[in-house]
Amino acid sequence: MTICVRDARKRRGRRTLWDGLSFDVEPGEVLALTGPSGTGKSTLLDCIGQIDVLDAGTVSIAGVTAARSGRRARLLRRDHLGYLFQDFGLVPDMTVQANVEIGRVPRRDRGRGVPTAAALERVGLAGRATDRAYELSGGEQQRVALARLLVKQPDVVLADEPTSALDEGNARTVLDLLDEFAADGAAVVVATHVPAVVAWAASRLHLGEARAT
Ligand SMILES: Nc1ncnc2c1ncn2[C@@H]1O[C@H](COP(=O)(O)OP(=O)(O)OP(=O)(O)O)[C@@H](O)[C@H]1O
Ligand SMILES: [Mg+2]
Repeated sequence: MTICVRDARKRRGRRTLWDGLSFDVEPGEVLALTGPSGTGKSTLLDCIGQIDVLDAGTVSIAGVTAARSGRRARLLRRDHLGYLFQDFGLVPDMTVQANVEIGRVPRRDRGRGVPTAAALERVGLAGRATDRAYELSGGEQQRVALARLLVKQPDVVLADEPTSALDEGNARTVLDLLDEFAADGAAVVVATHVPAVVAWAASRLHLGEARAT
């Protein structure tokens, strides 16, 4: 699915983070969002993911311009969007398996998403299915979040600093899997400070310093 951002503006308090921001992310493309801390990389991901709203402009995904609270946005989030949160976004008291299953889309025509056991195997966590999420290390938790995306096979993947808490091996696993999602046709957007991740991405968008207005 193509992500289309047009004339996007966002303010936080009296500061304008960005204004007149327009770009597309095509299926199969990997875009890195870069820029200093506080320039609104996470905020932009949230706006693309329909969990925050722009002050002006539009975000459309596959031609659908969705309002955050609308049914279309809800279905888009549920069926097509995969979010990789910086803090992993797991439910601590639930098992690894149950956290992965959250990604399973109930009614969608399957054939794409992989079974839970295979997803855990792919991320090197076979045998950890019944552990609670809080028992895992940061790198292991991020791999559970990736397994959740594997069972979902989203058309749009939004990742916020997906490697920053990880060692080199785990970071490589994350990037390899993001590459696989893109190869499978997903539009992938990654907010990152990490030079190796910026270099890995095929396209880049730099957000400048926020301006006081
Ligand atoms: N819920 C909020 N309410 C008010 N201001 C916020 C809120 N969330 C973020 N901000 C402000 O918006 C600006 C952009 O934040 P954001 O987290 O998007 O930046 P970022 O580029 O992702 O930074 P970092 O590189 O540190 O992750 C910051 O100045 C932040 O203080
Ligand atoms: Mg951020």
